[in-house]
Amino acid sequence: MSAEKITIFDTTLRDGEQSPGINLDTGEKVEIALMLEGLKVDVIEAGFAVSSPGEFEAIKAVARVVKDSTICSLSRAVERDIDLTAEAVSGAASSRIHIVLATSPIHMKYKLQMTPENVLEHAVRAVVHARRYSEDIEFSCEDASRSEPEFLARFVEQVIGAGATTVSLPDTVGYATPDEYGKLFTYLRNVVPNADKAVFSAHCHNDLGMAVSNSLEATRQGARQIECTINGIGERAGNASLEEIVMALHTREDFFRCRTSVETRRLTAASRLVSEITGFVVQPNKAIVGRNAFSHQSGIHQDGMLKNPLTYQIMTAAEVGADEYRLVLGKNSGRNGFRMCMRSLGVEFGSDADLDLAFSRFKDIADQKASLCDEDLLATVAGMEAFSR
Ligand code: KIV
Ligand code: ZN
Repeated sequence: MSAEKITIFDTTLRDGEQSPGINLDTGEKVEIALMLEGLKVDVIEAGFAVSSPGEFEAIKAVARVVKDSTICSLSRAVERDIDLTAEAVSGAASSRIHIVLATSPIHMKYKLQMTPENVLEHAVRAVVHARRYSEDIEFSCEDASRSEPEFLARFVEQVIGAGATTVSLPDTVGYATPDEYGKLFTYLRNVVPNADKAVFSAHCHNDLGMAVSNSLEATRQGARQIECTINGIGERAGNASLEEIVMALHTREDFFRCRTSVETRRLTAASRLVSEITGFVVQPNKAIVGRNAFSHQSGIHQDGMLKNPLTYQIMTAAEVGADEYRLVLGKNSGRNGFRMCMRSLGVEFGSDADLDLAFSRFKDIADQKASLCDEDLLATVAGMEAFSR
């Protein structure tokens, strides 16, 4: 069975920018958008056009320069917002209008203060209006994972009937479990009569740390688009992380039977650019792009890595564009890893006794320090005669 294509919809510039503390100007948005194009993401959500004049101009600038990815802007289900959104993306080689309206009882009652029937009418009118501008219309049923399934099914059927070509089911508050989220896709794809006329999309938040798992499970239940951000930045605890999703699909293609067109070798550079521009530091143990993602410290692991890197790595650093794996010395490291690190510093031990002495000095230093520098390591051979450099 061949792998099916998953559309990668990057929302770093919209949901990612909604992270408290991030504010991107036009130049920064354009720089990130060009990087995303180079990464070969399919859709770039450049922003929320009506949110400010600066945002509108930034989306226009992104639409002008990017040629190979579809450029999208979010819009409320309000006609004048859709008009402005359409104008913001009109200069793009390929554009999409993304409309959002909430479908959960709590959002409809308290936030929208509308009846479900009213919300439905509004949504259909918005899609029909947006179709005047574009054939590529995405509709997001905000808080879909807390919506009533029967109402959601009726809602999805009608927005598809009105012309939506992608339907997203956001887990807006990161509440769903993978099993529940996946079942929502299965259910809707089974009961909505015109479900095959639209692409179903996953959009997951990370409040319980399940955004990536939820997105991946959605692909197993028929989602063919995933919405995500570089480094997982986004509202509150963030969105599903693009690099984790792409590498999970890539590394476990045998399991997911899905593929993306993302250039995985550019992931590390993409992560660094977004971190540098936003000022959001990537945690060292972050999957795929963290500083320690390809570092090995304990003696048992280092010994395995030196014999065969597949013992402790399921992908190579080169696949994601990172530096080759590192053996990092610390108090858990073993003699073999120590000897290899010393060799990389130009030190060869003339005898086992020298190695034993240097190794025991190393353990004394490592007991005091979490990270050892080259000078610490070279100090372990101080005064020794039987070594060459
Ligand atoms: O999380 C969400 O529901 C969203 C919508 C605005 C698409 O980001
Ligand atoms: Zn979101």
